[in-house]
Amino acid sequence: VDLDIDPAAYDAGQHESFMRKEMLEQPEAAERVLRGRLDERFGTSHLGGLDLDARDLRAVRRVKVLGCGSAYYVGQMGAGLIEELARVPADAESASEFRYRNPIIEPDTLYVAVSQSGETVDTLLAVQEIRRKGGQVVGLVNVVGSAIAREAGRGIYLHAGPEVAVASTKALTTMHLAFSLLALQLGRVRDLSIADGRRLVQALQRLPEQLGEVLALEDQLVPVAARLAEAESLFFVGRVRGYPVAREGAQKFKEITYRHAEAYQTSELKHGPLALISPAVPTVAVVPDDELTERNVAALHEIAARGGPLVVLTHAAVDLGDLPSQAEVSRIDVPRSERELDAVLLTVALQLLAYHAAAALGHDIDKPRNLAKSVTVE
Ligand code: G6P
Repeated sequence: VDLDIDPAAYDAGQHESFMRKEMLEQPEAAERVLRGRLDERFGTSHLGGLDLDARDLRAVRRVKVLGCGSAYYVGQMGAGLIEELARVPADAESASEFRYRNPIIEPDTLYVAVSQSGETVDTLLAVQEIRRKGGQVVGLVNVVGSAIAREAGRGIYLHAGPEVAVASTKALTTMHLAFSLLALQLGRVRDLSIADGRRLVQALQRLPEQLGEVLALEDQLVPVAARLAEAESLFFVGRVRGYPVAREGAQKFKEITYRHAEAYQTSELKHGPLALISPAVPTVAVVPDDELTERNVAALHEIAARGGPLVVLTHAAVDLGDLPSQAEVSRIDVPRSERELDAVLLTVALQLLAYHAAAALGHDIDKPRNLAKSVTVE
């Protein structure tokens, strides 16, 4: 099936590209995925398409998230959220690897298939394999009635609206929010307190507006992105909640700039990549204000000491210390949510960075070479 959407069928309007249009649509997309699903009173969510009652949800012993490309990286953010809020062991794996390794399908595992198009063949075949072995699958899918949505049997629609640019933006944001809703519900049938549930519900309600605030950083990010576009090779680093953010940031950057962008766990820098740090190799570091800030800041000093240029995505409260005066450092203060949810706001800042680096290079941003919006053949 050729599902490549013909961009001419949609209208980018006054926008110079679909990617930019779709980035700017994120506040509305976020409102749509949350609409009618938050329960302020009980600090939880309502997800009609899930079709699992409290007893079913309590019986879940493990969560396994499957997706490809950016959906896989958001899946990793989602698995982290589920572990954090629900204390249920959760991880993400690329659907393409999963389905080729004769995976063990457990009856008390909840499998979550994440896909914008709902047609990615690797994810679809993973879902079919799980279902054939009697596993339970929830689809987090944007396109209504798509193959994955149908095969999964139960799911959470993303309501992001049509996404045309190959590099996914608003669909990813809605995926992250759908994971937040699922994690909240899994948490609230377990030990997540009503107070914490309400705190997160309120934070989710503020997110659409905060996404707008991140988009307003655009002017500040344009020159930083243009500078990054000059490098042949870059690192994107983060740890724990920030690591999948770095992975997705590197993915977006390499997809549309054609630069070598490699994501690494900040904690692993000293086990290899530090050897590559030089004035020619910038590092984009994700440094949220959380339990790991001090460790992350220490790594920035290691990089700066080796002359590595730094772009630091952080929060206003973070003190970066005295970095060497000759170090090239761009600091971007991203609006903050609750620490469990910050990843989605940081991810959007990285989208803008990739977008403007690609724009500085004059690339066709909506249709990067060699890539397709949805990969429906093996
Ligand atoms: C392709 C696209 C990516 C996308 C991935 C998964 O590789 O280029 O942008 O993240 O497929 O697509 P899906 O529709 O399943 O989310």
